[in-house]
Amino acid sequence: MRNRKKWLLRGCIVIALVTICGWRQKLDKDFLELTTCPACYGKEFCRDILDDELTRGKKITLASYSRWKIMRLLNVKNVYYAERNKVPLVLKKLGHDSELQEFNTNLCEADKQVAGCDITEAIQSLLLKSKNNVAQVVSRFPLLFEMSEGVKCNHRRVLYHLFDNFLKIDNEPNQHHHFLTLLAVNMEPLILNAYRNGWFPALIGMCGRAIVEEYVGPTLTQFGEASWLSRADYARQLLEMAQDFTNGEFRLYLTDVSLDNFAVDPHGKVKIIDAENIVMVDPTTDGLDRSEHINEGFGCWDCLSFSYEDLCGHIFADHNYFAVCKGMLSSQSFSRDLPKGLLHSPPDWVMEQHPTFFSLVEDCARPSSHSTTLPRRSDAAAALHTQLLQILQKSGKA
Ligand SMILES: Nc1ncnc2c1ncn2[C@@H]1O[C@H](COP(=O)(O)OP(=O)(O)O)[C@@H](O)[C@H]1O
Ligand SMILES: [Mg+2]
Repeated sequence: MRNRKKWLLRGCIVIALVTICGWRQKLDKDFLELTTCPACYGKEFCRDILDDELTRGKKITLASYSRWKIMRLLNVKNVYYAERNKVPLVLKKLGHDSELQEFNTNLCEADKQVAGCDITEAIQSLLLKSKNNVAQVVSRFPLLFEMSEGVKCNHRRVLYHLFDNFLKIDNEPNQHHHFLTLLAVNMEPLILNAYRNGWFPALIGMCGRAIVEEYVGPTLTQFGEASWLSRADYARQLLEMAQDFTNGEFRLYLTDVSLDNFAVDPHGKVKIIDAENIVMVDPTTDGLDRSEHINEGFGCWDCLSFSYEDLCGHIFADHNYFAVCKGMLSSQSFSRDLPKGLLHSPPDWVMEQHPTFFSLVEDCARPSSHSTTLPRRSDAAAALHTQLLQILQKSGKA
């Protein structure tokens, strides 16, 4: 009886909320927060996204449960599923409401105005004070970009790399404003745009405080029970990603490594779907240490410990191998959904024919001990990758 009353009450609350909020969430000016522009992500894509009666049908619409207005209250992450011509997409506001609000407050503060000021004027004023130069804004108002891992190292060439690529997709008069807003709030679209190399989803466009990107597929968390060989193939790709990012023109170091930040597309390709936390290093910067930085990994047992100073100060670092092996592959991985790691429960023949396989996984994942008997972490990762290739070839998966 009590239970029935509870359900009745919950039902009434849902009906009341739906009545107050309405059913369908429209991609309108309010939802896209167009009034924040030019302190927004862009406007070029608005014609493809803004909901109006005339062009409905050709445009991007919210899909699945993201269509319900009530989801706005529950969707703290502000990540929505969308589609265009039945092609699945993802719409992101790039931050929780409170984070976006915090950026507004920081803008006012940087411009020495009180919270709640006109942010469209504040961002204009910061650029005017800095002669319309984005690098000057970044160096004069560091608090605004405190959360941005892309510019943590303060390597000028990184900033221009992101900016020059951004100018290729934003021809609006306020392109500087848009770039700075993205850099401060969440640089994911800047990365997706600068790295169209297959490791990231395609960036489709920006409108107001929303961006649209390719929907990749289910996250790695959902592949915990997939066949071991499929998981081995994802592990192979993760190690290749780690290697590419470690040796690129700009080093990209992953700092938020968990299985729900990686997804698998319909062709079995692994991509990073959360590109907010990536430290970028320009290895041509004067004065960097030329020795390989070995991430000691001490400091926390169930998370990824690292130092910005070390990553930024070295030409090479084994950080990505550590992050991938410790965060996702090892039996001690810190994924709550897959506590035994992506490579759990191998078939017997793998254990018999590759007796060193699992010790390599652990060597790659364990904190460095300066031991002379253990292989360097990057060597362990390379040997692991070779064995994965052999296993996959033997079973016709490569
Ligand atoms: N491009 C994408 N393709 C498929 N799923 C995605 C994509 N982007 C985000 N998601 C889903 O939304 C979740 C949250 O997105 P994410 O960008 O990681 O937000 P947050 O930074 O809040 O963690 C992801 O774990 C994933 O389930
Ligand atoms: Mg995430």
